[in-house]
Amino acid sequence: MRWRLVAILVGFTTLVLAVQNIPLSKFLEQREFETHIAQLQSDAYTIAGWSIVVLETPSPEAKLYLSAHVAEYAKTSSARVVVVDQTGTVIEASDSGSGENFTNRPEIEQALTGQAASGERMSQSLGEPLIYVAVPVRAGPKILGAVRLTYPSSELQAQINDTVRSLFSVGLISLLSAALIAFLMATAITRRIRRLSHTAERIAEGDLAARVDDSGGGEIEELATSFNIMAERVQGLVEKQRDFAGDASHQLRTPLTALRLRMDRTVELMDLDDPAVEQVEAARNELDRLQRLVDGLLALARADSRNQRTVPMDISSIARDRVDSWRPLADEQGVQIEFVGPAIAMAQSVPTGVEQVLDNYIDNALEVVPAGGRVVVTVTPTDQGVLITVDDNGPGLSPEDRVRAFDRFWRGRQDDAGSGLGLAVVSALVSASGGRVWLDASPLGGLRAAAKFPR
Ligand SMILES: Nc1ncnc2c1ncn2[C@@H]1O[C@H](COP(=O)(O)OP(=O)(O)OP(=O)(O)O)[C@@H](O)[C@H]1O
Ligand SMILES: [Mg+2]
Repeated sequence: MRWRLVAILVGFTTLVLAVQNIPLSKFLEQREFETHIAQLQSDAYTIAGWSIVVLETPSPEAKLYLSAHVAEYAKTSSARVVVVDQTGTVIEASDSGSGENFTNRPEIEQALTGQAASGERMSQSLGEPLIYVAVPVRAGPKILGAVRLTYPSSELQAQINDTVRSLFSVGLISLLSAALIAFLMATAITRRIRRLSHTAERIAEGDLAARVDDSGGGEIEELATSFNIMAERVQGLVEKQRDFAGDASHQLRTPLTALRLRMDRTVELMDLDDPAVEQVEAARNELDRLQRLVDGLLALARADSRNQRTVPMDISSIARDRVDSWRPLADEQGVQIEFVGPAIAMAQSVPTGVEQVLDNYIDNALEVVPAGGRVVVTVTPTDQGVLITVDDNGPGLSPEDRVRAFDRFWRGRQDDAGSGLGLAVVSALVSASGGRVWLDASPLGGLRAAAKFPR
């Protein structure tokens, strides 16, 4: 995005500079050429003035006078001077001797007819292009001779190139400035857009309270304001829904408990031979399942609510305690349960988060481990926090099921025992604590359930 903006602005500036500078440089080239010719012509007429005396009444003094002036002129100018008489014979030249006949030069021929000539042509003697000016030397109506000035085109071209080069240097500076401005502008814009997309990502990851800074007043800030309004609404709706799930589960608990008590009482009052007893017992089991489901939903609604603060706690002592609590049940099943870990391992968690995670993991393990099996709870402090693992030697889960197991209501077994909410609650609690959960194959042969709590 940033580089595209820079490319557009630089491309546009290049186009504007090309449209402006190419015809301008052509125009400057033409002007430089014309100015030069005009200057040469004016110089030629001045020299023609100096030549009149020599051509009219040749004398050594007059010749000396002209030579001195021509030599002086040649010192300050790169032009070659040639003065010829009526017959085209050179009587004075800035760089060579006199005596040569120049009538074969077309411009001299034209000047001797009384007409000034100027232009560019190949030099016969030098073999390179040159610019020439030839003017007649007059005394009244009489033409006494001609003055010709020649100048190497390459020198004029070099001057023109200098002018054009400075024109393009200015263009290059404009182009670099445009690129710099475009880069700064694009950086400012992309920075603000990136902030917006970071916030969107945080919301997508579940941090519904994330908002973007919308102070400023530009279009992007307007977008940020709209984004914040949308986030506010989404957060409100999600929280309302969570509250509803929590409230509904909570409200269901009381009548369910009452119903359970009435059923217990009904069984007590019934004749044990009554064939209806079996039906009532089955209904009581269904009721137990319903109660577990409601408890699970309530736990999930509580774990999901984001406004829980994390507190530091000693994961080791909690884990040791939970293992001790589960030991009687494990003993009853003929399963060995162990705790491995340091005396203290501090990490952050939402209140009761660690207990619920361990209870769910151990409950699941005891559910699948056969008699004579093992469950090992390990606490390992790491650089970033504390890792809890619960290993068992049960049947384990396939890699695909290990991912799906954290989904709500997903169950691997088809029995009536669970609600499929245990691992979903674990996942919600650990992410509310800023940690991470996963399942893996255990070295014991079954499943390893892991949770990492931040320091
Ligand atoms: N240690 C384990 N070994 C093998 N499978 C497991 C283990 N732990 C969980 N699972 C599988 O993952 C599924 C989901 O577990 P989860 O705890 O979410 O639900 P549940 O135990 O069935 O019900 P609940 O915990 O709500 O009473 C389980 O039904 C089981 O199939
Ligand atoms: Mg479970």
